[in-house]
Amino acid sequence: TEIEWDAESVTKGSHDHYMRKEIHEQSNALRECLRDRFSTGDSVSLDAIEDGYRPESVHLVACGTSYHAALYGAKLLRKRGIQAQAHLASEYALSPPPVRDGALVVGVTQSGETADTLSALRTATAEGARTLALTNVVDSTAARECDDALYIRSGPEISVAATKTFASQLVTLVLFALQSSGQTSDETERLVSALTELPEHVQRLLETTAAPTTARRFADSSGYFFIGRGVQYPVALEGALKMKEITYEHAEGFAAGELKHGPLALVTEDTPVFVSVVGDDETARKTVANAKEVKARGAPLVAVTDGVSSIDRFADEVLTIPRTNRTLAPILVNVQYQLLAYHTADHLGRDIDKPRNLAKSVTVE
Ligand code: AGP
Repeated sequence: TEIEWDAESVTKGSHDHYMRKEIHEQSNALRECLRDRFSTGDSVSLDAIEDGYRPESVHLVACGTSYHAALYGAKLLRKRGIQAQAHLASEYALSPPPVRDGALVVGVTQSGETADTLSALRTATAEGARTLALTNVVDSTAARECDDALYIRSGPEISVAATKTFASQLVTLVLFALQSSGQTSDETERLVSALTELPEHVQRLLETTAAPTTARRFADSSGYFFIGRGVQYPVALEGALKMKEITYEHAEGFAAGELKHGPLALVTEDTPVFVSVVGDDETARKTVANAKEVKARGAPLVAVTDGVSSIDRFADEVLTIPRTNRTLAPILVNVQYQLLAYHTADHLGRDIDKPRNLAKSVTVE
């Protein structure tokens, strides 16, 4: 059962801004997202989707932050053997993928009211695809119009900048990937056990973060870059979006391997580069090599890391995340990025909860 809530009755409590309050609500939001979603042992049971349902292919459509969640979801599904692709909702209808029998189109949308996403979902329905709304708002238009609705259960989010709902989207996508691939393996077991520990890890990170100090140190920079590889790539994009949305400063996210194909020309000693490195496998080592290229160009390097690789030996600043399963680590990295954006915007005196030119829910195409 899903509980309906009344956004109007929500207050900031002791926090200066809704955004800060919502960042701090993440651990509880994730607990709520996971509640009663495991049946026996490791198997995931989402009431929105019948047990045993195996989509042949999945297309995720979304905008903004939700699109970054969709990119992460597509990576996860592909890792578990399901053909999957993320699409910008505003581009979907212009060249829709062929949706044969067995295709599922998932609209990832916090509000369930974003016009571009609704329009992409309607295109998918017209072409005969099954549709699923992955949303926060019970009975939203997306929830009503899709064949099924899978709720992320974050509770009301007032700040224009999406924070806790992004974390809940990622966790819901992990659950969805686990259920729809139906695979059980040692990796599945490890992932499920790490999921149950995740709310505590988020809480610990919030209590120990050094992000306010790092944010102040770099608050007068001329631009910010975020890089990451694999599952860390979507959070590099999200880190940059959050930064530009509420600080009004230039920020870009890149796949770590793409830097040398152009963006490196923008890197100077006045543009800090944020890099996330988790574990010490081949992916991590390649990212470390990319980070060294940045450092060699004189840019300040901030590493967000679990401390396993060698990155903390040469980064100018280190923001630590608790050790967890590599698939889930982006959720923790992203909490550091949210705090960096928040404290930078606060230092610059921006209108954090209502940034200029933006609306919480974009209901025009
Ligand atoms: C997030 O910080 C933004 N405000 C924005 O990108 C948002 O994620 C996008 O408009 C999609 O909204 P939705 O999830 O409600 O569809």
